[in-house]
Amino acid sequence: MPEAVVAITGASGALYAERLLRALSDADWDILLIVTREGAINLDLELGLSPSDLGKLKGVSLEENGNLAARSASGSAKIDHYIICPASGTTIGKLAAGISDNLVTRSAMVALKERRPLIVVPREAPYATIHLENMTKLSSWGVVVLPASPGFYSKPETIDDLVDFVVARILDQMNIEHQLGKRWTGEEVQ
Ligand SMILES: Cc1cc2nc3c(=O)[nH]c(=O)nc-3n(C[C@H](O)[C@H](O)[C@H](O)COP(=O)(O)O)c2cc1C
Repeated sequence: MPEAVVAITGASGALYAERLLRALSDADWDILLIVTREGAINLDLELGLSPSDLGKLKGVSLEENGNLAARSASGSAKIDHYIICPASGTTIGKLAAGISDNLVTRSAMVALKERRPLIVVPREAPYATIHLENMTKLSSWGVVVLPASPGFYSKPETIDDLVDFVVARILDQMNIEHQLGKRWTGEEVQ
């Protein structure tokens, strides 16, 4: 099975992570899930869920953010994709500075050093200049910076439609087939 690390950090937008995990689970991916302390606060605040609730999804194994000896901390673990969703400004700043002081930042550093695909999904408004500088740095290193900013051209009717728009873009980056939302055909504007 293909395998991904999914990290939930302390930015708003836990619903993006929950729907991403369900989509990866449905696509038969194995997932190592890491949730930071503030990530868990937002998960509870926004969805009434705990990390262990998400850990019950098929294919999902929880790793402890404080455990730097966990599997995802090593480059020798063959992991296909790394996604930080949502990604806080703090975690992005640590990555840009080369800091790997917890399992989220360490596993992302593994992705960087091993030249493996890493997607970060920032959620902040407005951005400070340091956020923009840090994201530019990550992007120049090959990281896909995929902001939680849904488009409206697909005429979303529900919050799930909006969330699916962003999750669909993540799955596209991972080359995973999905049915989330309609694709642009070029015939919408006459
Ligand atoms: C309820 C709550 C909501 C937050 N929302 C955001 C946010 O949307 N974006 C962001 O970058 N930081 C947000 N923060 C701040 C981060 O959680 C904070 O910078 C924290 O240090 C991030 O640590 P982590 O990256 O290890 O999770 C929020 C914090 C809390 C408690």
